Amino acid sequence: MLNTTLTTSWHLRYPIIGAPMAGVSGGRLARAVSQAGGLGMIGVGSQTPIEFITREAAIARGENQARFGIGLMAWALESRPELLDAALQAQPFLISISFGSPAPYVERVHQQGILLATQVHSRAEALEAAQAGVDLVVAQGAEAGGHTGQVSTLPLLQIVMDAVQTPVVAAGGIASPRGVAAALAAGAQGVWVGTCLLTALESGSSEQARERIMQAKETETTLTRVFDLAQGLAWPEQFPGRALRNNFTEAWDARPEEVSAAAQARQELAEAIKGRDYDLAVIYAGQAVGLVTQQQPAGDIIRNLGDGAEHLLRTQYQGLLQPAHP
Ligand SMILES: Cc1cc2nc3c(=O)[nH]c(=O)nc-3n(C[C@H](O)[C@H](O)[C@H](O)COP(=O)(O)O)c2cc1C
Repeated sequence: MLNTTLTTSWHLRYPIIGAPMAGVSGGRLARAVSQAGGLGMIGVGSQTPIEFITREAAIARGENQARFGIGLMAWALESRPELLDAALQAQPFLISISFGSPAPYVERVHQQGILLATQVHSRAEALEAAQAGVDLVVAQGAEAGGHTGQVSTLPLLQIVMDAVQTPVVAAGGIASPRGVAAALAAGAQGVWVGTCLLTALESGSSEQARERIMQAKETETTLTRVFDLAQGLAWPEQFPGRALRNNFTEAWDARPEEVSAAAQARQELAEAIKGRDYDLAVIYAGQAVGLVTQQQPAGDIIRNLGDGAEHLLRTQYQGLLQPAHP
């Protein structure tokens, strides 16, 4: 058994949180992660309908009242506060509010007996989150899939853990037992994984996207704003998204601000997204995509990460230490 706040105080079997991923992690994936002993989360995007939250939360909870989380975006709550109302009503174990300050929402979430997490990308964001009273700080490195910051996971993790007393978990680039063991050895209370679940059997990824993800190498992602600009999404500038490189990023990454005015390109992208043509359409994925080579049940992925990390820490890591001389 791995011994961290997430296993002793939250009573998870593994200190592993299945990241909220809008469009990919619904109730089925969240449930599978939680059933395996992690904590699964439902991803809610800026345009997600309210009914989605209610429906998917019921699926995640199931008949046996499994625990789950719901992930929201702070900047989206400013224009759609009803997303938080619906999330609170679904009574999850954990809510995350990322990409903007969680401070305005801490009290309401806590009043419902729900824990609050937020993803941070700098020392300043970590301090703000801790001061606001969040229960879990997620150090999200730039290797991560989806929207993220500019600092890589390892320096960010060290900086954030030095800065705050709140429990910290590591996100970004973790997709194997070695990565989990490394994050725990660095002092993280757990890991928050997304990319390694993209091809889980229970994920919402399309067949076409799964094929591309399994083929993609770690060198084939880009941190880009072009998909948000071309879709007219109001993502704050400081949070680009890490996606697989394709013809659309090749055409626009060098001149992102021009894509907003390129009506034809925007139209082509919209059609490609509808038609699942990933030569143009976006697939958000992190650099750990180079480790994702097959489709498996999410439970197998979580158990492999957790048991594998425990095995590494018990066996290989002991070899690092010489007996201390008196
Ligand atoms: C396809 C995809 C969608 C994502 N959507 C969200 C989201 O809706 N809300 C959120 O807080 N984070 C989102 N993220 C970021 C994850 O929460 C997490 O930080 C990231 O996946 C961790 O890094 P990794 O992908 O290297 O495991 C998304 C990530 C991916 C890959």
